[in-house]
Order: sequence, then C-alpha cells, then structure tokens
Amino acid sequence: MAEAFYITTPIYYVNASPHLGHAYTTIIADVACRFHRMRQEREDTFFLTGTDEHGDKIIRAAEDENLSPKAYVDKISNLFRELWPELNIDYNYFVRTTDPAHIAVVEQVLQNIYDAGDIYFSEYEGLYCFGCERFYMERELVDGKCPDHETEPEKIKESNYFFRMNKYQDWLTEHIHSHPDFIRPECYKKEVLAFLREPLEDLCISRPKTRLQWGITLPFDQDYVTYVWFDALLNYVSALGYPDGDLFKKFWPHAQHIVAKDILKPHGIYWPIMLRAAGIPIYQHLNVHGYWNADQSKMSKSIGNVIEPLQLKNIYGLDAFRFFLLRDMVFGLDSNFSEESLVQRINSDLANDLGNLFSRVLAMVHKYFKGIVPEADPGVEEELRFGLKSDALKAVGEFEASMEVFAFHKAVAAVWEFISQMNKYIDVTAPWVLAKKKSSRKELEVVIYNLLEGLRIISGLIYPIMPETASDMQKHLGMDPEAQFYSLDMLKVWKKTEPGRTLPKSTTLFPRIDMKKVGTRDPSASSDEKAADRKKKAVPIKPEIDFEAFTQIDLRVGTVVHAEAIPQAKKLMKLEVDMGEKRTIVAGIAQSYTPEDMKGKQVIVVANLKPVKLMGVLSSGMLVAAVESSGCTVATLDKSVEPGTPLS
Ligand code: MSP
Repeated sequence: MAEAFYITTPIYYVNASPHLGHAYTTIIADVACRFHRMRQEREDTFFLTGTDEHGDKIIRAAEDENLSPKAYVDKISNLFRELWPELNIDYNYFVRTTDPAHIAVVEQVLQNIYDAGDIYFSEYEGLYCFGCERFYMERELVDGKCPDHETEPEKIKESNYFFRMNKYQDWLTEHIHSHPDFIRPECYKKEVLAFLREPLEDLCISRPKTRLQWGITLPFDQDYVTYVWFDALLNYVSALGYPDGDLFKKFWPHAQHIVAKDILKPHGIYWPIMLRAAGIPIYQHLNVHGYWNADQSKMSKSIGNVIEPLQLKNIYGLDAFRFFLLRDMVFGLDSNFSEESLVQRINSDLANDLGNLFSRVLAMVHKYFKGIVPEADPGVEEELRFGLKSDALKAVGEFEASMEVFAFHKAVAAVWEFISQMNKYIDVTAPWVLAKKKSSRKELEVVIYNLLEGLRIISGLIYPIMPETASDMQKHLGMDPEAQFYSLDMLKVWKKTEPGRTLPKSTTLFPRIDMKKVGTRDPSASSDEKAADRKKKAVPIKPEIDFEAFTQIDLRVGTVVHAEAIPQAKKLMKLEVDMGEKRTIVAGIAQSYTPEDMKGKQVIVVANLKPVKLMGVLSSGMLVAAVESSGCTVATLDKSVEPGTPLS
C-alpha cells in the first residue's frame, strides 16, 4: 500500500479572475491526485487549493469595483471555486486566507517565531514595487524598473518587523543537497542554490496599519499587519488543522507543492525556512512548472493576453483541453499556447490515434461477434500476443514512474506509444483476413479479445487526465467504471476483460475538428484587440422600449436533440430542439458549427417568433447568437437547466 499523498496548488490572488495559467496548475494537481487515488484509498489522498485574499492589490481592485474588500474577495474567490468543478477538478478543501481558522494559525506561528527571537523590529528604506508587493534590491531591477511590472519602484521608508532568514541559510543549503529531489525539475533546484550562494536578506513581514488595514494583525503589535508570504504560505498547514488536527498529522509528512517559477523563491527559500523556524517538519517536494505564454509573453491580466479556460472547454471539450495542457507542456519548461496546436493535437492524438483505434475495435466486435466479448483460448492467446502484453505492462510501468515525478508529458507519451503498438497489432494480425476463414475463428477471437484487453488498460491509464473519456470508454467496453477498474493494480494484470458481455454500439470519442474553423472565435485575442474590433464594427443600439415590450419576447432554454445539414443551404442547419415540447428550428449557423457540435448543446430560443419556411423547412423559433464578420457564436447557459425554462 502506497503512503498518503498531499498535493497543493498556490492559493491564487483574487485581484483578477482565473485564466489558463491558474487552470493548468490546478488541473495538474487534479491529475496527480487522481493518479494517486488509483493506487490508494481516496481517504489517503488530500488535494488543497484556495485563494489568497489580503494585501494592497486587493484593496485597490476592490476600490476599482466600488466594493468593500470583503465583498470583493468573496466575489472573486467564488469565481475560482465555481470554475474548478467545471474543469472536473476534484479537490478536497478550498482554503481562504480570510478564514478565521487560517488567521488563528498565522497568529500562533508568528507568536511562536517571535518568542523564539527570529522576528525583530527595525527601520528600513527601500525600493518598493506595489505590483509585486515587495522591496527590490537595486541590482534586481531592469533599467531601474521592476522586471515583472516594468514600472519604477517607489522609495519608501518605514519601521517594520523582519524575519531572520539569514540564520537558516546554511541549514537550507545543506537540506537541498541532502534531499536531491526536494525541488524539481533540477533546473529550479539549481536556481535556488544559486540564490543561496549570495547572503540572504532578512524578510520584511509586516506593514504599518497606517498604510494598510487589509491583513492579519500581528499578535505582538496591534499597529501592524502581516501579509503576503507569512500569511499566504501558512495556508498549506492551516488547511490541515495545524498543529493538532488529524489531517495535519496524517498528510503533512507527505506534502508536495506545485507552483510555477514565478513563486519559486518564496516556496523554495522562505517557506522551508519558516517551517524550520516554527519547528514544523519540512515539506517533501516542490514541483515547479514553467509559464503558459500567449504571443510569447507570460499570460497576465495586465498584458491583456489571458486565455479563458471555459471558452476552450466549451469549444473543444473538457477532456481534449485537459489532455492538451498535459501533452504540450514539458513540465518545468515554458510553452506557447496556440489554438492551432490544440486542434492539431485533438485531430492527431485523440481523434486519429485513440478515437480510431477504439471505434475500429468496437466495430469489429459487433461485426464478427454480434457485440459479444469473445473468449480467448489460452494456448492460441500466447501464440498470437505478439508482445502486446509486455508492451501494455511496459506502458503501465513507464506511466507510473513518470506520473510519480510529475513528468506528465512522458506519462502521456508512454500511453500513446502503446496506442500505436495496438494500431500496429491490428495491421499485423489483420482480423478482416482471419474473419474470412472459418478455420481461423479461434485466432480471430484471440485477436479481438487482446485488443479489448489493451483498450481496457488504456482506459485506465487515461483516467487521471481524461476522466470523462475513460468512463465513456469503459461503459462501451462493458465495464462498470465505478468498480475496481481505476485501480492501477488492475492495469498490471493481463486478461482481466470478462468474455461473454454484450457491448453497446461504438461511439465517437473525439470528433475531428475542421482546421478552417480555428481562429473564427479566437480565444487568444487580447481583450484590447477584441474591444477595438467591436468598436470598428459597432452596431448602433436600437431605440428604447419599455419593460412591457421586452416581456412580450418569450425566451426559452432548449436542448438540441438532433442536428443536420440542409442540402444546398450552406449557411443553414436544421435542429430539433427539446423545449419541454420538441420544435424544429432552422438556424443560420452552419458555417460556424457542425451538426456534431450542436448535439446536446443548451441554447436560447426566441420561442414566440412567427414560424417561417426556410428552404422548405418550417422553422418554429430562432436561436440567440452573437454574429461577427468571422462567424457566429450561439448563446448558451453556464449551467444546465430544465428544457423549456423561460429567461427573464
Ligand atoms: N498568491 C500567490 C501565491 C501564494 S501561494 C502560498 C500568487 N498568486 S497568483 O494568483 O499570482 O498565482 C500564481 C500561480 O498561478 C503560478 O505560480 C502558477 O501556478 C499559476 N499561473 C499564473 N499564470 C501562469 C502562467 N501564465 N503559466 C503557468 N502558470 C501560471 O502568486
């Protein structure tokens, strides 16, 4: 039995809404946690995420929105909390630095370190960047400006409390040397060791209340608050009920953090030293990844190049999006996001390699065995295996070893190597030839059985990354996805597929995406570009109407149950929409959507529009959509609701 597993993401600042960068970190934490849940009981894993809610930035962002700091942090924290289930992120606890339990832990740890003499009071004058909420040394600036915000820091002088980091410098250097994978990948360990070659400055951990109120009051001086790192980092232990909580005792000894390289120094230097000074054992591993860039710059709200995860999920599907993030970023290095590479990955790795394999095999089960899983004769099976079993076991082994060290791209590569071996196995055994001769029936049974067995293993391996697809595959393979098939041990044994089950008809796991459509709804266009674009084509607002007139329009939610092209009408598509009752609607969306895209979508319908005949089809209602020169985007709801529900 593997030991307990505790994984954390950074707690995100609530001065901006979540974007693809935040989604990436949280998705990989989810993938890592789901992987560990395949090896141990769910109760032995713990996944923490949350929001960081104190500091100058929050005050300013709240003021900009005319809200109190509390109302503002509640609002943005909820955006994060509500996004994660949409991305199938199955965390255990969502911590907030404004939680009273967190505040109590921060006060206690501060008091302990103060009593031990590692926090002292002193005057300080320095160059302060308000964007980063920290002082900069002259040599850290680029042309006199903050390297992140490209603004000149302000010279400020104040008396503050400082944490004696210098005292622990040698200990930390030694700890990193004696625990070679404490910080990984290697390049980040080297970066931290390089920092540690210079004398460490003590860390300023307070702000006077005259300048800032929105923080945790120091227990030993009511005129000061602490914030940023001394507050935020402690979330990793406060969420577990430090010091006496059962969760703390069970999970803290196994703690692993995931962060991007922007916060390497606080996590690689301040945090272990804080833990040491507070007498708390040091975490196990710091896993550091690179940046998702858009147009070669780090995605950030201030640059205006953020990509919204929900938009991508809605266009391309959640599992394809999760897969792409894991497949396209080498853990530790930067990656440039582009919609084209996302589509290429979907078409080649998902639709072609995995999707085709799956539908080919299932089609053969139906064609040759009436959909019933054949039995494999043991003697013939061994003869006709052609290394498939050892290929499968090798893939499972490499997958496990890579997942363990957060080398997600390698884990994915191991599974896709096996998928390609499965495709070759079909070519080599040529089941269609075996099917022609009655005397080859046993061989055919074995080949199809082995392919189903390989698919069972693939469905388990992709589970942490693509949970919905794994479950879909397993249903079609006649397995109960709730049962033990998500256990890694079950993937290490060959011949677990049960013969005799009747399989449902095949399904398309990943429809191919038409490359021509890419960019019609460019999710990477910066908000400034989009605003400029909108302005250029601004449509004047129509004359005012009163509320009564508005209520005459009956808008309803409908679910598309069927969609088909209309021959000879390039722009039109015929939809059957369930709105409590079924309606036929002809919509001018065929140049932006395929019928496949539309099936299952919840749309908004103008329900009381007089029916009209379009290309010979009577259309009873109209879809609401945003129409741009590049195409149209149909309006949908962000949660599913009962068909027929009116909109008001
Ligand atoms: N509140 C601090 C963290 C405190 S943890 C005790 C903070 N918040 S943040 O909102 O700025 O989040 C930073 C983290 O978000 C990064 O470390 C990374 O996990 C994620 N990312 C934000 N932008 C990113 C990219 N462009 N690319 C990859 N990850 C990104 O720092």
